[in-house]
Amino acid sequence: MAVGIFDSGLGGLTVLEAVEKRLPEVPFVYLADSAHAPYGVRTADDIFALTCASVQRLFDAGCDLVILACNTASAAALRRMQESWVPADKRVLGVFVPLIESLTERQWGDNSPPREVAVKHVALFATPATVASRAFQRELAFRAIGVDVEAQACGGVVDAIEDGDTLLAEALVRSHVDALRRKMPAPDAAILGCTHYPLMQAAFQEALGPEVQVFSQAALVAESLADYLERHPGKIGGGSAAFLTTGNPKRVSDRATQFLRRPITFTAA
Ligand code: DGL
Repeated sequence: MAVGIFDSGLGGLTVLEAVEKRLPEVPFVYLADSAHAPYGVRTADDIFALTCASVQRLFDAGCDLVILACNTASAAALRRMQESWVPADKRVLGVFVPLIESLTERQWGDNSPPREVAVKHVALFATPATVASRAFQRELAFRAIGVDVEAQACGGVVDAIEDGDTLLAEALVRSHVDALRRKMPAPDAAILGCTHYPLMQAAFQEALGPEVQVFSQAALVAESLADYLERHPGKIGGGSAAFLTTGNPKRVSDRATQFLRRPITFTAA
């Protein structure tokens, strides 16, 4: 069966690109819940209900394993889904933990006590719902001590990307980086904690300056999925790749083609 990749919109395509490159033999079904994007301004209950509906659609498409390529869903809904909703024969994984393991210099599943790590001042850029969940700080506190995190809720960036308005998205990135710097003048690392933001990676890096190391998730998630599939080979099989959206397929295909610079054709979910 294929592996499902879910996001509220186009952001998860940054993860899809990396997993396709790392695992060329695996078919992926991508689902964008474009009709309900952005998720980042919604309540946790709303994000839970929408994420369950989309993941169910991917189960129905034959996926036994689904990656939430969406920090907002991973932060606001994943734990509740795993505890109360995911059937025993299916798996749903998020994108948060691989990033935090990399930042805290840990191997997969290293649950040893928290310790000091190289980075000390971390800027987190994420959606309002991800920032409000404090999931990043919680996961980090399990693994590291002495790390100062300043979070910036980047309102408007996802909407601008979904609308294909790159100039507005870049201007918003600059203003969110300025706002962050007023709270933390010299971060040594920055986390792009929303899968849409790597589409604006150059704008983030330019606004932050070359001395700030920018962590984004795509490659880290790809490595962690490869590792998972090696340990659970039964989760991959036949099935064919597809791009599904709850929004307007033509509009979503045009935007995806613009951002990934290769033709992508979505059909109705
Ligand atoms: N790309 C998503 C994330 O990683 C969702 C953004 C949104 O829908 O607000 O958070």
